[in-house]
Amino acid sequence: MDIQRIGVVGCGLMGAGIAQCAAEAGYAVHVKEADETLLAKGLARIRSAWERGVAKGKLTEQQKAGFDTRLHGTTAFAALADCDLVVEAVPERLDLKLRAFAELDAVLAPTALLCTNTSSLSVAQLGPALAPARVPRLAGLHFFNPVPAMPLVEIVRTLATDEPTLAALRAFVGRLGKTAVLAPDAPGFVVNRLLVPYLLDAMRCAEQRLATTEDIDTGMKLGCGHPMGPLHLSDFIGLDTMQSVAEVLFEAFGEPRFKAPSLLRQLVAAGRLGRKSGAGFYGWEGDKRLEALPL
Ligand SMILES: NC(=O)c1ccc[n+]([C@@H]2O[C@H](COP(=O)([O-])OP(=O)(O)OC[C@H]3O[C@@H](n4cnc5c(N)ncnc54)[C@H](O)[C@@H]3O)[C@@H](O)[C@H]2O)c1
Repeated sequence: MDIQRIGVVGCGLMGAGIAQCAAEAGYAVHVKEADETLLAKGLARIRSAWERGVAKGKLTEQQKAGFDTRLHGTTAFAALADCDLVVEAVPERLDLKLRAFAELDAVLAPTALLCTNTSSLSVAQLGPALAPARVPRLAGLHFFNPVPAMPLVEIVRTLATDEPTLAALRAFVGRLGKTAVLAPDAPGFVVNRLLVPYLLDAMRCAEQRLATTEDIDTGMKLGCGHPMGPLHLSDFIGLDTMQSVAEVLFEAFGEPRFKAPSLLRQLVAAGRLGRKSGAGFYGWEGDKRLEALPL
């Protein structure tokens, strides 16, 4: 399976990162957004990342121009008709994803591969939007945020995903300069299934006054060599997102370690959502972490 042309549906936080990395890796990339305004915003996000690269001396003007010639924007699914692989990155709603997959299925060649960047939905649940013959070419490609900086992609196989599809996706991830791990189509895949209970446990420790917010974070950062502590990371992810991910995992597995702690619910109810709202476990000024706030 020779992948040359990549389609990306949704040019938000994740879609823009995926399109950026694919264009940098030499692929022709066609990005589809919902309307012209959102498309312009998404493409500007990618181009400003390249401009920052030039300003910092990490990219030459010539490299930036080369990336740009491979990046194409559209608001029509039909413009993705020649793509060999399409990665869907629309918001985390099953109805939106099913609609996008049905539209894609109608225009793509029968050989094209279709992937979703979902973090919490079942990949197999998207199968009914496709012609039965394409279901073996459906998989998850779970990128991590921020996409250009994070070196991992989980390739999520359903029970129907075939071997040539997995091999083609491994090759695609490798050409992006990233490492793939194979994950089952089960909630949390591999990384979040292990990470989320750890973050929730850190909140339970804070709730039980085991140690201060700063000491929990410093302990795990310096004691385990993590780049940031668990409460800092939770603020970074967003406490509302943490709560909804915990609910999905608790619903799926029923184990107490996946249950959202009462402290998390209280913080979310108080509008302390982490970095995005300026307050969570810590105060935030944009990306700058301030003092820990009282709990
Ligand atoms: N944000 C994260 O940290 C993260 C990490 C891994 C995976 N994900 C998953 O990636 C997906 C996208 O998340 P995001 O954070 O980039 O969301 P986002 O809201 O930043 O971007 C989604 C984009 O999709 C666009 N869109 C909606 N309907 C569309 C349509 N029909 N056609 C084309 N574009 C359409 C929206 O206009 C928006 O720009 C979700 O499934 C999410 O669960 C997110």
